Amino acid sequence: MISISHVSKSYKKPLVRALNDVSFSVKRGESVGLLGPNGAGKTTLIKSISGLINFSAGKITIDGIDASSRRGKTLRLLGVVLDGSRNLYWRLTVRQNLVYFGMIRGMSCSQAKSRIPKILDLMQLGEFSNHQVGLLSSGQKQKASIAAALVHNPSFLILDEPTNGLDIPSMDNLSRVLNTLRDEMNIGILISSHNLSFVQQVSQKVVFINKGKIVDILGIDDVKEFELKSKSTEIKTDLLTVYRNLMKGDIR
Ligand SMILES: Nc1ncnc2c1ncn2[C@@H]1O[C@H](COP(=O)(O)OP(=O)(O)OP(=O)(O)O)[C@@H](O)[C@H]1O
Ligand SMILES: [Mg+2]
Repeated sequence: MISISHVSKSYKKPLVRALNDVSFSVKRGESVGLLGPNGAGKTTLIKSISGLINFSAGKITIDGIDASSRRGKTLRLLGVVLDGSRNLYWRLTVRQNLVYFGMIRGMSCSQAKSRIPKILDLMQLGEFSNHQVGLLSSGQKQKASIAAALVHNPSFLILDEPTNGLDIPSMDNLSRVLNTLRDEMNIGILISSHNLSFVQQVSQKVVFINKGKIVDILGIDDVKEFELKSKSTEIKTDLLTVYRNLMKGDIR
């Protein structure tokens, strides 16, 4: 389980309280959506879980292991995809990246190589496996980033805005892949996205965050109930209604 307990983070320059007493958990085999407007603190939280920044207060554990003091150990349990495919080496091919990222997460070269066909197939990247990442389209780069995050067989997958740059079939494929990883491989998933219908398709629980604070945590079934209570007729998705209600005054 990823356990986030009373986590706060302030940036010094400029002084911003990006996370304020945030607590929730992501279990294995559970998918959690992270929703909030620009500047809400989503990326800060994802970087805190992934050990990319030091948070100011609170505790994060991954399967009981402290993410601050035993970063090397917790990183092996996580697959992380940040916005903008920044986790890949653009001069290497997709396949070379996958071998590299498998190995830095503790696999032997032959273990990494034997996982690659499955991952390429899962992400529909087979025909690009020998292409340099820098020459791929942005959606293909995004898929390669997700593939690199999966190669070492993590227990949890964390994705920051993974739908950016994806076309509609690729988005549908990604939601299928995420649901397969969760249901068949028991992977826990935390996903931040501004694409509400995507979040609705892939999440069992949604954490709403605004100005660094958790506003609400709802199961996807509660989201449907919330929608009935709101009796709005002009909404496109139930999650959008909930989102608008919770973030009242901060979004239009
Ligand atoms: N390196 C930094 N230094 C100072 N302030 C920062 C830094 N990174 C983020 N912030 C501030 O922290 C707050 C939270 O930013 P964060 O990037 O976590 O938001 P977000 O929810 O990911 O937003 P978005 O939806 O736009 O990606 C914002 O007010 C932002 O300006
Ligand atoms: Mg962000």
